[in-house]
Amino acid sequence: MRREARLIGNEWFKGAWSDGKQVCPEPAARASRSSPRAKDIGVGDHFAVDIEPIRREWSESVIELWEQAGLIRPWNDPRADLRRAVEGPASDVLVGHDDGRLVAAVMVGHDGHRGWVYYLAVHPQLHRHGYGRAVMQAAQDWLRAQGIPKLNVMVREDNDQAGGFYQSLGYRADAVRVFSLRLDGNNR
Ligand SMILES: CC(C)(COP(=O)(O)OP(=O)(O)OC[C@H]1O[C@@H](n2cnc3c(N)ncnc32)[C@H](O)[C@@H]1OP(=O)(O)O)[C@@H](O)C(=O)NCCC(=O)NCCS
Repeated sequence: MRREARLIGNEWFKGAWSDGKQVCPEPAARASRSSPRAKDIGVGDHFAVDIEPIRREWSESVIELWEQAGLIRPWNDPRADLRRAVEGPASDVLVGHDDGRLVAAVMVGHDGHRGWVYYLAVHPQLHRHGYGRAVMQAAQDWLRAQGIPKLNVMVREDNDQAGGFYQSLGYRADAVRVFSLRLDGNNR
Protein backbone atom coordinates (compact mmCIF):
# COMPACT_ATOMS: atom_id res chain seq x y z
CA MET A 1 0.00 0.00 0.00
CA ARG A 2 1.39 3.42 -0.91
CA ARG A 3 0.06 6.72 0.25
CA GLU A 4 0.65 9.87 -1.72
CA ALA A 5 1.86 13.13 -0.28
CA ARG A 6 -0.32 15.97 -1.33
CA LEU A 7 0.49 19.61 -1.59
CA ILE A 8 -2.34 21.83 -0.50
CA GLY A 9 -3.22 23.82 -3.56
CA ASN A 10 -0.42 24.06 -6.08
CA GLU A 11 2.32 25.18 -3.78
CA TRP A 12 3.53 24.92 -0.21
CA PHE A 13 2.04 27.38 2.19
CA LYS A 14 3.26 28.19 5.62
CA GLY A 15 0.49 27.27 8.01
CA ALA A 16 -1.56 29.92 9.73
CA TRP A 17 0.97 30.06 12.53
CA SER A 18 1.20 33.77 13.06
CA ASP A 19 -2.13 35.53 13.03
CA GLY A 20 -2.95 36.89 9.63
CA LYS A 21 0.38 35.77 8.17
CA GLN A 22 -0.83 33.12 5.76
CA VAL A 23 -3.87 31.04 5.31
CA CYS A 24 -3.96 27.43 4.18
CA PRO A 25 -6.59 26.76 1.55
CA GLU A 26 -8.93 23.86 2.13
CA PRO A 27 -7.37 20.46 1.41
CA ALA A 28 -7.97 19.09 -2.06
CA ALA A 29 -10.70 16.46 -2.46
CA ARG A 30 -9.62 13.20 -0.91
CA ALA A 31 -9.14 9.97 -2.73
CA SER A 32 -11.48 7.20 -1.64
CA ARG A 33 -10.05 3.75 -2.03
CA SER A 34 -10.15 0.74 0.20
CA SER A 35 -7.44 0.53 2.88
CA PRO A 36 -8.31 -2.40 5.14
CA ARG A 37 -5.28 -2.29 7.45
CA ALA A 38 -5.70 1.39 8.16
CA LYS A 39 -9.44 0.97 8.49
CA ASP A 40 -9.02 -1.79 11.09
CA ILE A 41 -7.33 0.63 13.42
CA GLY A 42 -9.84 3.38 12.82
CA VAL A 43 -7.94 5.59 10.43
CA GLY A 44 -10.42 5.68 7.60
CA ASP A 45 -11.53 4.10 4.41
CA HIS A 46 -9.30 5.87 1.95
CA PHE A 47 -5.87 5.80 0.54
CA ALA A 48 -4.37 9.25 0.65
CA VAL A 49 -2.87 11.26 3.49
CA ASP A 50 -3.16 15.03 3.54
CA ILE A 51 0.15 16.67 4.29
CA GLU A 52 0.45 20.34 5.00
CA PRO A 53 2.54 22.77 7.03
CA ILE A 54 1.75 22.76 10.71
CA ARG A 55 -0.94 25.00 12.15
CA ARG A 56 -0.53 26.44 15.61
CA GLU A 57 -3.37 24.37 17.04
CA TRP A 58 -1.61 21.13 16.08
CA SER A 59 1.66 21.88 17.85
CA GLU A 60 0.97 20.06 21.14
CA SER A 61 -0.32 16.97 19.28
CA VAL A 62 2.80 16.95 17.13
CA ILE A 63 5.03 17.16 20.21
CA GLU A 64 3.05 14.31 21.75
CA LEU A 65 3.64 12.30 18.57
CA TRP A 66 7.38 13.01 18.79
CA GLU A 67 7.31 11.84 22.41
CA GLN A 68 5.46 8.64 21.47
CA ALA A 69 8.00 8.04 18.71
CA GLY A 70 10.88 8.31 21.19
CA LEU A 71 12.41 11.34 19.51
CA ILE A 72 12.57 13.73 22.44
CA ARG A 73 15.89 13.98 24.24
CA PRO A 74 16.16 15.68 27.64
CA TRP A 75 18.71 18.14 26.29
CA ASN A 76 16.43 19.30 23.45
CA ASP A 77 13.37 21.51 23.86
CA PRO A 78 10.87 20.35 21.24
CA ARG A 79 8.65 23.42 21.63
CA ALA A 80 11.57 25.76 21.01
CA ASP A 81 12.74 23.57 18.11
CA LEU A 82 9.26 23.59 16.61
CA ARG A 83 8.85 27.33 16.99
CA ARG A 84 12.23 28.05 15.41
CA ALA A 85 11.41 25.75 12.49
CA VAL A 86 8.04 27.38 11.86
CA GLU A 87 9.22 30.94 12.25
CA GLY A 88 12.44 30.53 10.26
CA PRO A 89 12.48 31.46 6.57
CA ALA A 90 14.02 28.17 5.42
CA SER A 91 12.26 25.55 7.50
CA ASP A 92 8.88 24.20 8.47
CA VAL A 93 7.11 21.25 10.07
CA LEU A 94 4.95 19.16 7.74
CA VAL A 95 2.07 17.23 9.25
CA GLY A 96 0.10 14.31 7.83
CA HIS A 97 -3.55 13.65 8.65
CA ASP A 98 -5.61 10.68 7.58
CA ASP A 99 -9.33 11.17 8.01
CA GLY A 100 -8.65 13.97 10.46
CA ARG A 101 -6.28 11.91 12.60
CA LEU A 102 -2.71 13.10 12.99
CA VAL A 103 -0.57 10.22 11.71
CA ALA A 104 2.87 11.61 10.90
CA ALA A 105 5.10 14.66 11.07
CA VAL A 106 8.53 15.79 9.97
CA MET A 107 10.66 18.90 10.41
CA VAL A 108 12.30 20.05 7.19
CA GLY A 109 14.72 22.82 6.42
CA HIS A 110 17.79 23.84 4.48
CA ASP A 111 20.89 25.98 4.74
CA GLY A 112 20.83 27.05 1.09
CA HIS A 113 22.98 24.10 0.06
CA ARG A 114 21.72 20.97 1.78
CA GLY A 115 18.30 20.04 2.97
CA TRP A 116 17.78 18.35 6.33
CA VAL A 117 14.95 16.56 8.04
CA TYR A 118 14.53 16.04 11.76
CA TYR A 119 11.84 14.69 14.06
CA LEU A 120 10.39 12.29 11.48
CA ALA A 121 7.65 10.36 13.28
CA VAL A 122 4.75 8.11 12.41
CA HIS A 123 2.21 7.18 15.07
CA PRO A 124 3.51 3.97 16.73
CA GLN A 125 0.28 2.08 15.94
CA LEU A 126 0.48 3.05 12.30
CA HIS A 127 3.91 1.93 11.17
CA ARG A 128 4.26 0.16 7.84
CA HIS A 129 1.21 1.77 6.28
CA GLY A 130 3.16 4.09 4.02
CA TYR A 131 2.84 7.25 6.11
CA GLY A 132 6.59 7.60 6.64
CA ARG A 133 7.23 7.32 2.92
CA ALA A 134 4.49 9.90 2.26
CA VAL A 135 5.79 12.58 4.65
CA MET A 136 9.35 12.08 3.39
CA GLN A 137 8.07 12.52 -0.15
CA ALA A 138 6.44 15.75 0.98
CA ALA A 139 9.69 16.92 2.63
CA GLN A 140 11.62 16.12 -0.54
CA ASP A 141 9.07 18.05 -2.65
CA TRP A 142 9.25 20.98 -0.22
CA LEU A 143 13.04 21.13 -0.64
CA ARG A 144 12.92 20.65 -4.42
CA ALA A 145 10.47 23.54 -4.66
CA GLN A 146 13.15 25.72 -3.02
CA GLY A 147 15.86 24.57 -5.41
CA ILE A 148 17.76 22.46 -2.89
CA PRO A 149 19.62 19.64 -4.67
CA LYS A 150 20.44 17.27 -1.80
CA LEU A 151 18.84 16.02 1.37
CA ASN A 152 20.77 14.69 4.36
CA VAL A 153 19.38 12.78 7.31
CA MET A 154 21.13 11.85 10.53
CA VAL A 155 20.17 8.51 12.01
CA ARG A 156 21.43 7.23 15.34
CA GLU A 157 23.61 4.21 14.82
CA ASP A 158 21.34 1.96 16.87
CA ASN A 159 18.15 2.97 15.03
CA ASP A 160 17.84 0.01 12.66
CA GLN A 161 14.20 0.82 12.03
CA ALA A 162 15.02 4.22 10.55
CA GLY A 163 18.09 2.84 8.77
CA GLY A 164 16.00 0.20 6.98
CA PHE A 165 13.35 2.76 6.21
CA TYR A 166 15.73 5.25 4.59
CA GLN A 167 17.52 2.58 2.62
CA SER A 168 14.24 1.34 1.21
CA LEU A 169 13.48 4.92 0.12
CA GLY A 170 16.73 4.98 -1.87
CA TYR A 171 18.95 6.83 0.62
CA ARG A 172 22.52 5.61 0.87
CA ALA A 173 24.85 5.67 3.82
CA ASP A 174 27.63 8.21 3.15
CA ALA A 175 31.13 7.67 4.48
CA VAL A 176 31.19 10.73 6.71
CA ARG A 177 31.63 11.32 10.41
CA VAL A 178 29.41 13.86 12.08
CA PHE A 179 31.07 16.18 14.61
CA SER A 180 29.08 18.45 16.83
CA LEU A 181 29.61 21.10 19.48
CA ARG A 182 27.06 22.32 21.99
CA LEU A 183 26.81 26.09 21.82
CA ASP A 184 24.55 26.28 24.86
CA GLY A 185 27.09 24.83 27.30
CA ASN A 186 25.04 21.69 27.73
CA ASN A 187 27.53 18.91 27.19
CA ARG A 188 25.27 15.87 27.49
C1 LIG B 1 10.99 5.29 10.65
C2 LIG B 1 9.48 5.51 10.52
C3 LIG B 1 9.22 7.00 10.33
C4 LIG B 1 8.95 4.74 9.30
O1 LIG B 1 7.60 5.08 9.11
P1 LIG B 1 6.55 4.02 8.46
O2 LIG B 1 5.30 4.77 8.19
O3 LIG B 1 6.46 2.82 9.30
O4 LIG B 1 7.28 3.65 7.11
P2 LIG B 1 6.57 3.21 5.74
O5 LIG B 1 5.39 2.36 6.05
O6 LIG B 1 6.36 4.39 4.89
O7 LIG B 1 7.70 2.27 5.15
C5 LIG B 1 8.28 2.45 3.88
C6 LIG B 1 9.29 1.34 3.69
O8 LIG B 1 10.38 1.51 4.60
C7 LIG B 1 10.84 0.23 5.02
N1 LIG B 1 10.69 0.12 6.48
C8 LIG B 1 9.78 0.73 7.27
N2 LIG B 1 9.97 0.38 8.55
C9 LIG B 1 11.01 -0.47 8.56
C10 LIG B 1 11.67 -1.17 9.60
N3 LIG B 1 11.30 -1.11 10.87
N4 LIG B 1 12.71 -1.98 9.24
C11 LIG B 1 13.11 -2.10 7.96
N5 LIG B 1 12.50 -1.44 6.92
C12 LIG B 1 11.47 -0.64 7.24
C13 LIG B 1 9.99 -0.80 4.32
O9 LIG B 1 10.62 -1.17 3.12
C14 LIG B 1 8.74 -0.04 4.01
O10 LIG B 1 8.04 -0.53 2.90
P3 LIG B 1 7.04 -1.80 3.11
O11 LIG B 1 6.20 -1.54 4.32
O12 LIG B 1 6.27 -1.77 1.83
O13 LIG B 1 7.94 -2.99 3.27
C15 LIG B 1 8.73 4.98 11.76
O14 LIG B 1 9.14 3.66 12.00
C16 LIG B 1 8.92 5.80 13.02
O15 LIG B 1 8.19 6.76 13.27
N6 LIG B 1 9.91 5.41 13.86
C17 LIG B 1 10.15 6.05 15.15
C18 LIG B 1 10.80 7.43 14.99
C19 LIG B 1 12.11 7.38 14.22
O16 LIG B 1 12.95 6.52 14.43
N7 LIG B 1 12.27 8.39 13.31
C20 LIG B 1 13.46 8.52 12.51
C21 LIG B 1 14.48 9.28 13.23
S1 LIG B 1 15.97 9.41 12.23
